[in-house]
Parts: sequence; structure tokens; C-alpha cells
Amino acid sequence: MILEKIAFRAGEPEDRLGILAVQRRAFGGEAEAKLVDRLIEGPEKTISMVADLDGMIVGHILLTELAGPERSLALAPLGVDPEWRDFLIGTELTNRAIAKARDEGWHSIFVLGDPVYYGRFGFKSALAEHVKAPWPGPNFMALELVPGAVSDYRGPVTYPDAFSDA
Ligand SMILES: CC(C)(COP(=O)(O)OP(=O)(O)OC[C@H]1O[C@@H](n2cnc3c(N)ncnc32)[C@H](O)[C@@H]1OP(=O)(O)O)[C@@H](O)C(=O)NCCC(=O)NCCS
Repeated sequence: MILEKIAFRAGEPEDRLGILAVQRRAFGGEAEAKLVDRLIEGPEKTISMVADLDGMIVGHILLTELAGPERSLALAPLGVDPEWRDFLIGTELTNRAIAKARDEGWHSIFVLGDPVYYGRFGFKSALAEHVKAPWPGPNFMALELVPGAVSDYRGPVTYPDAFSDA
């Protein structure tokens, strides 16, 4: 099974080119690769995880600190090489990034994406309904790592500048 051959690990500075390449291939353009580069270089804390298949990066996920509820992260982007899709690499990257966020003491994660895909990890649109979101609507979702972290919050969620510059 492919998953057993893959090392899921933290992204390191020397992975930069591999990470940019996989995001470029995943999204078919430069925007997400540029976003990743800016976010990793930027002042906000990040959690970066790669899927490494024999030294080749086939998937990458990034979580970045945002301004909003205390200790919150933005999940973006998540990309898997088109040649390696449907092997649960995206699922594994997401589960591991969430676990790492929990271990590091983060309280919540926001994502803009497909509710069916992200629903499997517990992200809910309803939870994000009461925050002032940059992209309101059903695709904007939240996951609480600490109960009440989002549901008790009223106010804005502000993504790092790199998202508006992208
Ligand atoms: C979305 C993505 C990360 C999934 O990676 P993956 O390793 O193939 O995902 P998994 O194998 O863990 O899961 C496969 C499931 O994702 C679903 N899926 C694939 N692409 C999807 C998409 N763009 N939107 C919603 N669901 C998607 C598949 O239908 C499959 O569903 P199933 O489990 O019910 O059969 C990958 O398709 C990708 O990089 N897409 C382009 C970039 C993107 O859209 N990123 C996510 C938005 S930030």
C-alpha cells in the first residue's frame, strides 16, 4: 500500500523547492506555491507537513496562525500531486496536521474548501457562521480543538496579508 511507503513529516527549509513544485502541480498554477512561500517566510507561526515518497514530495499542507479567536490557524493550501491522488495522502496529511496543532496547543482551525472533503475531519460551516469571515458562506468552516474556541467567539477572522497579496 502506497501510504505505508510514505513518510509524513515536518517540512524543512531544504524541502522548499519540492513543496513549491507539488503545490504548483496540485493547483495547476503559481498562486498557491507563491502563497506557501510567503507564508513560510512570513512572521506568523506555521505548521508545514510533507508527504515524502522516497525523497520525492508528493503532498504538502500548511497551517498558518491567523488573527481571530485565540490560538487559531488557517489551513491552506493542501495539495497532492495529481499522479498520487486517491491514496488517502491528503487525508493523512490533514489528520496529522490537525494532531500536531492539537499537540502544540492551538485552539481552532479555519479552512475555505469543500464541505464534503473537510467534513470528514470535523470541520463545520455552522461553527464558522458567527464569525466575521473573509469569505462567508458554506465553504468557510471551522474545527474546534478546544471546546468553545470558535462557538464562544464573536468577531472577525483576519488571514495573514499573504492571502490578500496572492
Ligand atoms: C483535494 C486533494 C488534496 C485530495 O488529495 P487526495 O490525497 O487525493 O485525497 P484523499 O485520497 O485523502 O481523499 C480522496 C477523496 O477526496 C475527494 N476529492 C478529491 N479532490 C477533491 C476536491 N477538489 N474537492 C472535494 N473533494 C475532493 C475524492 O473524491 C475522494 O473522496 P472519497 O474518499 O469520498 O472517495 C487533492 O485532490 C488536490 O490536491 N486537489 C487540488 C488542490 C485542492 O483542491 N486542494 C484542496 C483545497 S485547499
